[in-house]
Amino acid sequence: MAYFEWADDLVIDRGPIDQDHRHLIDLVNELHTATSRGCGHEVVGDILDRLSQYTHEHLRREEQVMASVGFPHLEGHQRGHGKFVADLESLQTKYEHGSITTAAQLSALLRDWLSLHIRRSDRELRNYLEGSVRSARHQAES
Ligand SMILES: [Fe+2]
Ligand SMILES: [Fe+2]
Repeated sequence: MAYFEWADDLVIDRGPIDQDHRHLIDLVNELHTATSRGCGHEVVGDILDRLSQYTHEHLRREEQVMASVGFPHLEGHQRGHGKFVADLESLQTKYEHGSITTAAQLSALLRDWLSLHIRRSDRELRNYLEGSVRSARHQAES
């Protein structure tokens, strides 16, 4: 069983957002495998760089999607993303200064944050999109 498994309740848009989340989950698993196998600083550092770069890209993409559909909780959602990026960056800096245990902490932080954030916060986007489809259908029928 993977360290972080994709599950049906993580589905948000059956599109680009899900693809991003799946890729992030793969990267978290890659990080976990590398740290548990005791891979060196260079290997782990490389995964961390890809992970943090992809996280930035994903958060930006997700916020763009939210803005384009008029998602009403965008500001609060952005604040959540901002706080997460700050935590991620401070752990990444700690890792760069030499601690391998920090990398293990990072895979746990990423897994917990992602699974909770997707299930609670990104989920609001799914509910919003489903609501929009319902009201468009309702209008078309009336
Ligand atoms: Fe997301
Ligand atoms: Fe999000």
